[in-house]
Amino acid sequence: MKRFLLVVSWVMLMVCPGFSQIKSLPSFDDVLNTRRSVRSYDAAKKISEEEVRQLLVSTQEAPSWANQQPSKYYVAISPEKVKAVQELIGGNKERVKDAPVLIVSAYERGKSGFFRGTQTNEVGDGWGAYDNGLSNCYLILKARAMGFDTLIMGMRDADGLRKLFNIPDDEAVMAVIALGYRKGKPYQPRHRDFDEIVKFY
Ligand SMILES: Cc1cc2nc3c(=O)[nH]c(=O)nc-3n(C[C@H](O)[C@H](O)[C@H](O)COP(=O)(O)O)c2cc1C
Repeated sequence: MKRFLLVVSWVMLMVCPGFSQIKSLPSFDDVLNTRRSVRSYDAAKKISEEEVRQLLVSTQEAPSWANQQPSKYYVAISPEKVKAVQELIGGNKERVKDAPVLIVSAYERGKSGFFRGTQTNEVGDGWGAYDNGLSNCYLILKARAMGFDTLIMGMRDADGLRKLFNIPDDEAVMAVIALGYRKGKPYQPRHRDFDEIVKFY
């Protein structure tokens, strides 16, 4: 029986080139449990534009308020643009100096939370920020599933980024997200007690 299974696996590997990849895909729990905010990147490992496209397509699957899809992404992948963004992230610069890609995340104001131009409830544009966070969440989890690592950075110069990428005024500049491969073991943060954050009734 063992020999039979070995032969079947060997045939699958030969006949179906994607089989070995299917086997090595991480489980969803692996993706969740191994994603960390990475603050040290491997300078030797690059990421292609095609890979970034594949990553960002996955963000289009994220839910959004009335399907408004307000999130926008500005990708710095050329060495010059990456360098320019590094100058606009304050103390984060040192943490992501070897990340090959830096992605600016923004959302269009006045879409999510609004119906025919009128704010639908007290949250207002907060729904745009909510949708942008959801979209970013797809990005960082998909990145991990592809073997990449990320760091979401809220410490950034929004005006400088707006100028650099010509981001229109009706878009709110949110985080810069570093993308690359981890170097070493990332810091494992302590989590709050589960019972402190969840109440069942
Ligand atoms: C909106 C937001 C802004 C953040 N800004 C920064 C930042 O500017 N610099 C940084 O090093 N980490 C930043 N982080 C990462 C958090 O510190 C990190 O997610 C948290 O400590 C939990 O660690 P973990 O992501 O490894 O689980 C940010 C995270 C979020 C969600």
